[in-house]
Amino acid sequence: MDILIIGAGAREYSIGLALKRDTSVDKLYFAPGNGATPNLGKNLNISDFNQLADFCEENGVDLTIVGPEAPLVAGIVDVFEERGLTIFGPSAKASQLEGSKIFMKNFLYRHNIPTARYIETSSIEEASKFIDSMKPPIVVKADGLCGGKGVIIASTHEEAKKVSRDMLSGVSFGDAGKAIIIEEFLDGYELSMFAVCDGKDFILLPASQDHKRLLDGDRGPNTGGMGAYAPTPLATDEIYRKVRERIVIPTLSGMMEEGNPFRGVLFMGIMVVEGEPMILEYNVRFGDPECEVLMPLLKTPASELFYNSAIGNLKNTKIEFYENRYAVGVVMASRDYPYKSSKPAEIIIDDIVHEEVKDNTHISFAGVSLGDDGKLYATGGRVLVCVGVGDSIAQAQKRAYMLVGQIHFAGKQCRTDIAYQAL
Ligand code: AMP
Ligand code: GLY
Repeated sequence: MDILIIGAGAREYSIGLALKRDTSVDKLYFAPGNGATPNLGKNLNISDFNQLADFCEENGVDLTIVGPEAPLVAGIVDVFEERGLTIFGPSAKASQLEGSKIFMKNFLYRHNIPTARYIETSSIEEASKFIDSMKPPIVVKADGLCGGKGVIIASTHEEAKKVSRDMLSGVSFGDAGKAIIIEEFLDGYELSMFAVCDGKDFILLPASQDHKRLLDGDRGPNTGGMGAYAPTPLATDEIYRKVRERIVIPTLSGMMEEGNPFRGVLFMGIMVVEGEPMILEYNVRFGDPECEVLMPLLKTPASELFYNSAIGNLKNTKIEFYENRYAVGVVMASRDYPYKSSKPAEIIIDDIVHEEVKDNTHISFAGVSLGDDGKLYATGGRVLVCVGVGDSIAQAQKRAYMLVGQIHFAGKQCRTDIAYQAL
């Protein structure tokens, strides 16, 4: 089977690695890919959806897997399906679950799925009135896609009003903030849970935890994610059951009822409040870096998972994850992340001589470029993810950090406490 992966990050790299292990996979293509994806396949410099579809037709590509949300929201799946091509991901309409927070909150409300109390508004007067009725902290969210920055947790009424005003006037996020959600603050612990869905059926993957803040102890600014681990013991059987019954099943039947059956990965950002899972957000794709720690746990050949969900055949597919196996992923970021871009820095990876590291770790590359000199350079914010695998979280963590110690580039930064909530 020949497969095209859309995207350029460590998430897509990790999907590529999982497919490389799968003996039924022949050629891999990445569009656009990054400076290290040529280790796994061929990079294509094509972004137009119809031209990508032309490429798939001309080259007999059997399956396309979409990593990031932007092409999904822009309708890549619709273009491919119209042309009879097999593609893994939701349609543009189903992608509204991530593309519009107002669509998402109203959907949760219509289908009685547990989430924080909220209002949606485009009026500063209405926003101020609701804010006055709440006890801080108060959560203010821009409606549209803001690259993960559109959520502000305000600690006072005044701050919440200022943030609302700046969003509604377009100062903060342009059109993405022209409508906002104001909601109550949920106090609990967060889980990232993923259901791979084919419209009707689904498979709930092992739960993971992301680490969104830049610094140890969850301090500093928000980032795209500085590390993740899975499975997390914080998700008990009872939590999996509640997520399945109260969230995934009503979400899939609700999307079906409304004429937008959901195929692809449903990412549920969950806050567990006194034992009750509540939805913070949906995303319509794998989390990054969560994907990087889930792929190494997949026992079933990866193409079976992606292909059968794309063709609506999960019911007849047995998907297994390794039992008693854990993965920890540590993001190595460049010097000025997440504030601004950094000067390119050469990446030097030591010869890995320890058997333990050699056999139980790998790198998923993200913001890297291949120089004319054939060397790899750190050119993005999140540069790469060091993944360690083991029989316990502690062992996986130790291995991930052993690998971190063997990778060098000027200005590198990483957290030293990934997976701390489980240890
Ligand atoms: P989102 O993009 O909606 O996931 O929000 C980003 C982050 O803000 C989440 O991962 C949470 O840590 C936090 N957050 C969002 N909504 C709430 C809420 N209602 N209560 C507490 N924290 C929240
Ligand atoms: N890890 C969070 C995200 O991918 O949005």
